Amino acid sequence: MRNLIDILDLSTDEINQLISTACDIIENPNKYAEKCKRKKLATLFFEPSTRTRLSFEAAMYELGGNVIGFSSSSSSSTAKGESVSDTIQVVSCYADIIAMRHPKEGAPMVASMVSSVPIINAGDGGHNHPTQTLADLLTIYREKGGFDNLTVGLCGDLKFGRTVHSLINALSRYSGIKFVLISPDELKLPDYVVNNVIIKNDIPYEETTDLISAMPNLDILYMTRVQKERFFNEQDYIRLKDSYILTPDKLENAKADLCIMHPLPRVNEISVAVDKDPRACYFKQVLNGKYMRMALILKLLEVS
Ligand code: NCD
Repeated sequence: MRNLIDILDLSTDEINQLISTACDIIENPNKYAEKCKRKKLATLFFEPSTRTRLSFEAAMYELGGNVIGFSSSSSSSTAKGESVSDTIQVVSCYADIIAMRHPKEGAPMVASMVSSVPIINAGDGGHNHPTQTLADLLTIYREKGGFDNLTVGLCGDLKFGRTVHSLINALSRYSGIKFVLISPDELKLPDYVVNNVIIKNDIPYEETTDLISAMPNLDILYMTRVQKERFFNEQDYIRLKDSYILTPDKLENAKADLCIMHPLPRVNEISVAVDKDPRACYFKQVLNGKYMRMALILKLLEVS
């Protein structure tokens, strides 16, 4: 039985297969409409979500399956003191596959050790978010045709942004990648990601606080929200929250085929005036996320 806890649980071949399944779903949705008939997905969200939970649910419905679950820990037995491990053992009696989000780093890994059905990590604290990365990879693939030789700028909260950590892990396996890490000093990419992923794979990278001067070299600009819920001190959040706001004038020196991404939700990081720029890809990412989650559910349920 396979789980998806970390994006590196999937080989590059498996990622390519998921992309090709997702593209086939886009072309031939009817072929997939009953693939998961009588199967149940449980969405266990111990932390808020709009896109990730609803896209998992939409994905399962479009495969002909059903969904059970909860959208906050306060409406589950967690509020009575039940452990993650007990909740998972109970839910795996009802569901064929579980997607879970939890504020504690490592909770989905713990879940996978006691579950009798596949576990998908839908975000664990400030750690990882592999299914957002699947959405990001399909978006890059559809916009750029592949993953090699891209200069990828990641901007904003690189410390707590779990989508950034998973995306860097995923892209580190392709050739000719360069990372430009754009953040305030307090929100720099954690050392464990810089050392264990970027330096270990000999990937060229640059750390800067200056978005404007980084702009002309970028093929991808991945904007992120400052992760309010991970701060210990509200004053620090207020000071840092508007560090980067992408407006049309800041794109003047950007490449004509730049791909502007954001996992969403956005707060202030991208002005709505950027939405009509053809380089804005963040709403495409949302749709791509549903297709990749469909492909992932099929794979983990071993439905062909
Ligand atoms: C991201 C997350 O939850 O980490 N959102 C998402 O799943 N699309 C990004 C964020 O919350 O800032």
